[in-house]
Amino acid sequence: MSEQHLTIFDTTLRDGEQSPGAAMTREEKLRIARQLERMRVDVIEAGFPSASNGDFEAVRAIAETIKESTVCGLARANETDVRRAGEAIKPAKSGRIHTFIATSPIHMEKKLRMSPDQVVDAAVAAVKLAGEYTADIEFSAEDAVRSDFDFLVRVFDAVIKAGATTINVPDTVGYSIPELWGERMRKLIESVPGADRVVWSTHCHNDLGLAVANSLSAVLAGARQVECTINGLGERAGNASLEEVVMAVRTRGDLFSCATRIDTTQIVPASKLVSQITGYPVQPNKAIVGANAFAHESGIHQDGVLKHRETYEIMRAEDVGWTTNRLTLGKLSGRSAFKSRLKELGIELHSEEALNAAFGRFKDLADKKREIFDEDIYALAGDDTIAPDHEHYRLVSSMFHSETGEAPVAKLTLAVGSGAARVEHQVEADGGGPVDATFKAIEKVAASGSDLLLYSVNAITTGTDAQGEVTVRLSKNGRIVNGQGADTDIIVASAKAYINALNKLEAGPERVNPQV
Ligand code: KIV
Ligand code: ZN
Repeated sequence: MSEQHLTIFDTTLRDGEQSPGAAMTREEKLRIARQLERMRVDVIEAGFPSASNGDFEAVRAIAETIKESTVCGLARANETDVRRAGEAIKPAKSGRIHTFIATSPIHMEKKLRMSPDQVVDAAVAAVKLAGEYTADIEFSAEDAVRSDFDFLVRVFDAVIKAGATTINVPDTVGYSIPELWGERMRKLIESVPGADRVVWSTHCHNDLGLAVANSLSAVLAGARQVECTINGLGERAGNASLEEVVMAVRTRGDLFSCATRIDTTQIVPASKLVSQITGYPVQPNKAIVGANAFAHESGIHQDGVLKHRETYEIMRAEDVGWTTNRLTLGKLSGRSAFKSRLKELGIELHSEEALNAAFGRFKDLADKKREIFDEDIYALAGDDTIAPDHEHYRLVSSMFHSETGEAPVAKLTLAVGSGAARVEHQVEADGGGPVDATFKAIEKVAASGSDLLLYSVNAITTGTDAQGEVTVRLSKNGRIVNGQGADTDIIVASAKAYINALNKLEAGPERVNPQV
């Protein structure tokens, strides 16, 4: 079998961002984009530039920064979206426009209220317009899984003639099963005129837990691009997980006549970064990136692995990045070692003051914790990747009192506003527990009127001196945001997470979902 290239198209920053509360700031997106580039992802779908000015700016910033991956912007098949995506990717060394329109009867009739002829015309016009900005044009037939086969052939034929270079076949609602999905891909490649001039792509959602299996089936049938996300993040049950697709193709190279160019040792760092930024924890038994993915519990397995690793392991933990760069810095590390580690991890702070502040927190942490790991660095740098003008609330200091038989009390000093308008407030509240008291104290100042949807705590590393990482999900007027905070004191981490979520509610612009 001659080996072909399998393009990895990462849509963590676009479809992944459509997970509730996973909206990211420009700086957060840049950090993830740099890690994706380091991992040698072929195409980074950086966002949907028409969603908001913030999204446009984020895609543009990524296009300006990333050099080793193609940077892609999503556009519905209309003039405004395509032009906006075209402008956003303009600075990219290699830029792609991904335009899409729904092709299933249910979407055309009920959502778009367009006839099939109108859909074909809109698709062709969008692809032609995209050609004014780039020669790298991807077209997707949204809800291809429920689209009439002959209509799909007609649409794909028309957009290839109009200049599309990648044809993406999405299972938008996660409805297919591997056998049928592979069959659909094979028949499309056989039936669409000009199929050999384009790259065939698959984009699967995980509603039935089959996104990776369906994607792999499409690859076996001839697809040469897989659209996927880190940790399988994405709309509803998520998208196909990048790490599972990449490692399946690599581990079962005997079955696939293609290979990716991914640096697999960057997978775990990417997973941790995405989890930390979005506030979506990785389940311990998640394949490849879960904490237990390479842990052997039973005595028989442990014995077997010690005698000969391949008895129970089909992949090596170090090949996906579990052991590389774990222990990073210690108490004696200086500012320049800290700065260069930040750089290696792709963390860019917005100013020298932010670097100094993060270094100060690093020193404080090193006093409390013997060993500092990359995960700790990601967490402690988090605060300062947010530009100060996005930070309406800041925790200045805190004191907690908790005693058997007494209601716990939180006393906080919070700074509100920025620059000369910044005012400090001292507040105090009691509650059912110290976290409850803390949130009540913050709300005395913020009076946000938001609802708390989720509160979760995870230990970032092992040991009782580990930092606790807290995620808080708030909802207000239909908008959902996730806030994160990390500290060796989990009550302080909780306060930081709540404040982080409030800042996102405060700063975040209203965004349009491309599929609504
Ligand atoms: O799921 C889907 O159909 C999409 C398209 C925009 C490709 O995300
Ligand atoms: Zn999707």
